[in-house]
Amino acid sequence: MMHKINLCILISGRGSNLLSIIKNCRKKDFPAKVKLIVSNNPKAPGLQYAKKYNIPFKVITKNFEKNIVNKLANYSIDVICLAGFMKILKLSWFNIILNIHPSLLPKYKGLNTHQRALNNKEKYSGCTVHYVTDKLDSGDIILQRKVKITKNETKESLEAKILKEEHILYPQAIRKIYKEHYN
Ligand code: GRF
Repeated sequence: MMHKINLCILISGRGSNLLSIIKNCRKKDFPAKVKLIVSNNPKAPGLQYAKKYNIPFKVITKNFEKNIVNKLANYSIDVICLAGFMKILKLSWFNIILNIHPSLLPKYKGLNTHQRALNNKEKYSGCTVHYVTDKLDSGDIILQRKVKITKNETKESLEAKILKEEHILYPQAIRKIYKEHYN
């Protein structure tokens, strides 16, 4: 049997990227397993997927960095994946932390990426999976997917188009991490 990497997914909201990772992890040849889900928001709709798929989850609202330490150890976590996690995470001692961002970094760090891309009349936008460092949305890029911005594009249509690509990109990036660090 193949060795799998143990993931901890951090969420704050909807959890559609979480769901796409969970679904990929159910594939036999996928090199990772979701061991733990952590939310800083007790009302995150994404927590429903923890319940649905029977995955352990924790809600941590205070002293996040301090309180997550023993959880990471208890579940033998190898890689932390931020998926719509709306808090700046200061865990620089932890080896591999990934994030997904809805723009072609280094363009449009931070929030409201789609409107800013439209305002600047960009021809393309997309999404990026990158390593998390102490500087917001600035760690090394692992993978990106690009979409074309059409003539009548709105913030909403662009968001939907990019979100679809995110759901393909994050699992691809996890496979890449596995090949580079664990194979
Ligand atoms: C995604 O657009 C992701 O790129 C950004 O936050 C959003 C999270 O969506 N970081 P979801 O919670 O995964 O549905």
